[in-house]
Amino acid sequence: MNVLFLNGPNLNLLGERQPEVYGKATLADIETQVRDRAAALGVSVEFRQSNHEGQLIDWIQQSKSYANVIVINAAAYTHTSIALRDAIVAVGIPAIEIHLSNIHAREEFRHRSLIAPVCQGQICGFGSFSYILGLEAAVNVKNVRV
Ligand code: DQA
Repeated sequence: MNVLFLNGPNLNLLGERQPEVYGKATLADIETQVRDRAAALGVSVEFRQSNHEGQLIDWIQQSKSYANVIVINAAAYTHTSIALRDAIVAVGIPAIEIHLSNIHAREEFRHRSLIAPVCQGQICGFGSFSYILGLEAAVNVKNVRV
């Protein structure tokens, strides 16, 4: 099983970016945690980050050839990107939305996710552990293509 982790804009700054909101772990730290858990579960992981919407869309489209599940922290694009949502629908791969922070407990503009309706579910508010929960959810997705 292959799980594609996609990370959107500004997540490359984790560790130094608002640590009171997002924690002290860097994205590399989080990737290591995900890879450790994935190894224990016998799952292959592809882990990517981009600040560019089009790049994320290209990766979603390309993932059709190798990914069984997408776990996505679309960061601010969560709240704005119809194009990301359309890409998720277009590839037809089950997707799981994750966030470090609890977006529902923050500014109102973060409460709405444009991708949530086309994802299997949403995990938010658990800091870097949201990524591990996302992996566990991915492994347990029922309608996975093999
Ligand atoms: C985030 C929440 C988003 O609202 C924000 O724009 C981010 C990070 C999170 O992981 O908590 O960049 O996706």
